[in-house]
Amino acid sequence: MASTLYLPKVVRKRSKLHGWGVFAKEPINKNKFIIEYAGELITNKVSDKREDTYLNEGCIWVFRVNRNWSRDGHVGGNDARFINHSCTPNCYSWVDTKQKRVWIRAAKAIAPGDELTYDYNTEGDKTIPCRCRPGCKTKL
Ligand SMILES: C[S@@+](CC[C@H](N)C(=O)[O-])C[C@H]1O[C@@H](n2cnc3c(N)ncnc32)[C@H](O)[C@@H]1O
Ligand SMILES: [Zn+2]
Repeated sequence: MASTLYLPKVVRKRSKLHGWGVFAKEPINKNKFIIEYAGELITNKVSDKREDTYLNEGCIWVFRVNRNWSRDGHVGGNDARFINHSCTPNCYSWVDTKQKRVWIRAAKAIAPGDELTYDYNTEGDKTIPCRCRPGCKTKL
């Protein structure tokens, strides 16, 4: 399974998009598993409350796994929680439905130094203006 795979090296650094971001330290091939979006497994009922609290602080930390479950990257998370959103991302999220685990995978070949991004596909209030490129009209 994914956990037995070699995972490419990545590093957390300041980002031009927002705050911290995560960057490739080596070439990454398309579809490669890069990092798990780790975090406490919580029900969506609990998640709704936590998301409201986090959003009041301007932050999105919870990843919706399915209709019932979410992963809270703010509790027990790893560097994946610092991966920023882009509307033209170089990564995508992939859910291991059996284990309710979320992985970030390469959507294309990624070069060393490139910032990793994926599409948050946020639902709900959408209050945060996206800064993925000048003039982007998306709200997260
Ligand atoms: C999971 S954190 C990502 C790490 C974040 N850069 C940090 O330093 O904490 C998600 C938050 O980062 C910000 N963010 C991520 N991608 C963004 C983007 N494309 N435009 C503006 N803000 C973004 C938003 O505030 C969002 O709530
Ligand atoms: Zn955007």
